Amino acid sequence: MAADLAQGAAEKPAPTAAELVRGSQLLVIAHRGLSSRFPENTLPAFTEAIKHAPDFVELDYRHSSDGKPIVIHDAKLDRTTNSVSTFGAKEIVIGAKSAAELRPLDAGTWFDAKFAGTYLPTLEESLDAILAGSCCMVERKDGDAATLVELLHRKKVASRCIVQAFDWAFIADVRKLDPTIVTGLLGKEALDAAKIAAAREIGSEVVGWRYTDLNAESIAAARAAGLKVWAYTVDKPDEARKLAAAGLDGLITNRCDEARSWLAQ
Ligand code: G3P
Ligand code: CA
Repeated sequence: MAADLAQGAAEKPAPTAAELVRGSQLLVIAHRGLSSRFPENTLPAFTEAIKHAPDFVELDYRHSSDGKPIVIHDAKLDRTTNSVSTFGAKEIVIGAKSAAELRPLDAGTWFDAKFAGTYLPTLEESLDAILAGSCCMVERKDGDAATLVELLHRKKVASRCIVQAFDWAFIADVRKLDPTIVTGLLGKEALDAAKIAAAREIGSEVVGWRYTDLNAESIAAARAAGLKVWAYTVDKPDEARKLAAAGLDGLITNRCDEARSWLAQ
C-alpha cells in the first residue's frame, strides 16, 4: 500500500497555472527566483528556488536588439551585469545589444564573487529551468505579445505559465492571441473600483499589486469581483501574515525558502 501511494504521488501530473490560480490555497511566488540568496533572474536563482517548492517562480524579460527575449529586470545593464567594464560605457539598454553580444556579460559577480560566470539567461532557458519543478510567472517588461505567445506555444508550456505586465494593453493583446493563457495585471497605488472594473473588462484573473497599497477592503472588493489578488514584494513575515488574514491569494516574495514557515506561525 505504501509503495502504491508513493508511486501514485510520483505520477501525479504537475499542476497547471490555471489550476493553481483558481484554487483556494494561498500561493507562494518566488520573485526573480530565490533572489534573497542568489543573483536575481538567473538560472542559479531559479534552480535554487524550485528546491523550496514555490507555486510559481517569477521572472522579468526584455527584448535584445535582435528580438530575443532575455531575462533581466532593469531596462539598463548597469546594476546586474559587468556591462560598463565590458562595453566601456554606462547606461546601455538591453535593446541596444544583440543576444550574442549580451551572452558574455557576467550577471552574478555584482551579487557575490562566487557567482562569477553566471550569464543573463534567455527566456527559453529560464522556462526550462523553472518548469522542471514549478510553474512560471512570466513578467514582460518589453517586447510584443506575438513573440511571447509564439514562444509559449512552440515550447508547449503555455498552460504552465501566467503572463503578467504593468502594461495592461500588452495583456489585452496576449488575451486576443490566446484567451486560454492565464494572465495577470500588475499595478500600484489604489486598487479602486475603476481599476477592478478595467481588470474585469480585460478578462485577466489576477491583479498583482504593490503590497503597501493593499488593504482588507480593496482585497475583498477585488475578490468579490471575481479577481485573485497577489501582492509584491513581501519579505516581512508580519506583513505576509497580515495580508494572508485579509484574504490574499498570492504572495510574491524574494524569500520563497522561508515564506511558508511565516504563514504557518
Ligand atoms: O511580481 C511583480 C513584481 O515583480 C513587479 O515589480 O519591479 O519587481 O518587476 P518588479
Ligand atoms: Ca517582476
